[in-house]
Amino acid sequence: MLEIRDLSLALPARTDHSDADIIAVSNLSLRLQRGRVMGLVGESGCGKTLTAQAILRLGEHQGIRRTGGDILLDQQSIFAMDDVTLRKMRGGRVSMIFQEPMTALNPVFSIGSQMLEVIHLHLNLDAEAARQHAIRLLQDVGLDDAGHLLQQYPDSLSGGMRQRVLIAMAMSANADFIIADEPTTALDVSVQKRIIALLRNLQRQRGLGMLLVTHDFGLVAEMCDDVAVMYAGEIVETGSVEDVFDHPAHPYTRALMGCRPEINPPGTPLPVIEGNVPAPGLWAAGCRFAPRCKHADQACAGKVALHQWSRHQHQARCVHVEAAESC
Ligand SMILES: Nc1ncnc2c1ncn2[C@@H]1O[C@H](COP(=O)(O)OP(=O)(O)OP(=O)(O)O)[C@@H](O)[C@H]1O
Ligand SMILES: [Mg+2]
Repeated sequence: MLEIRDLSLALPARTDHSDADIIAVSNLSLRLQRGRVMGLVGESGCGKTLTAQAILRLGEHQGIRRTGGDILLDQQSIFAMDDVTLRKMRGGRVSMIFQEPMTALNPVFSIGSQMLEVIHLHLNLDAEAARQHAIRLLQDVGLDDAGHLLQQYPDSLSGGMRQRVLIAMAMSANADFIIADEPTTALDVSVQKRIIALLRNLQRQRGLGMLLVTHDFGLVAEMCDDVAVMYAGEIVETGSVEDVFDHPAHPYTRALMGCRPEINPPGTPLPVIEGNVPAPGLWAAGCRFAPRCKHADQACAGKVALHQWSRHQHQARCVHVEAAESC
């Protein structure tokens, strides 16, 4: 079990500003379980990447600071890990697949040397066994002629092939959890479909727990068991995909779902949610979605907690859930 518990993250301190922390993720809780895929959705700037990266403590070198809460991997705090344990955990028990496969690979090293470096860090194999392991991993992600591929450099590969290599690397040390941040948005649509099918197969075969960060509700329906909808640094709705799709409770979830191309007749303009996600530091004091919500009234001025909605473990952060139901 990988559990984010009440996590708050602050942006790097700015010298031109007051000393107050600018909170970008607030009191966020999520649970990932082996064998299940959790989708994390929301518009650009909601804090999805900050949350995903926090699981591997990747934001710290950019000055992102934890101001509260914890992240527990099988009960152990990742913030209590020493450097060696942390390095073993990253890419070992918990792997990450990034949005842009080119920037995640180093252009000056061959695919083989980058894969073998990861394999040697996590597995105790001799040179030939490590090479055979790398070849098997590349074959598992559908790359033929793996022996030759090991000698190639990232820029001679297509975007889809690079993403397959990164997925192979993420699988190299028998990870329990995969954090995939928009893993297909940089790829052509036809390639996206194949990469998603590959990820789904690997996740099922290996019983991985996965956090899939995406803008795409269609992808959530296809890939995920559970979903968390994020708005302005907090979760506004969470539950099983079935419950959230059948009974979306929060007006923001409903608005996002209404923007899906697949539910709008071809040729009609897609609905948009008026306005923008407020930047960290500019959130409304009560419901953060209220300034964009057609149901908003004075009741939304106070803090709103996540509360139980239609079924067990389906929660929403809205005082007007009943009103939203009729929209
Ligand atoms: N290193 C940083 N320094 C300053 N601000 C940052 C930093 N990283 C993120 N932010 C800000 O924090 C907010 C959340 O960013 P984040 O990247 O998590 O959004 P996101 O939900 O992943 O968006 P997208 O869908 O565009 O990837 C944004 O307002 C962003 O500008
Ligand atoms: Mg992001």
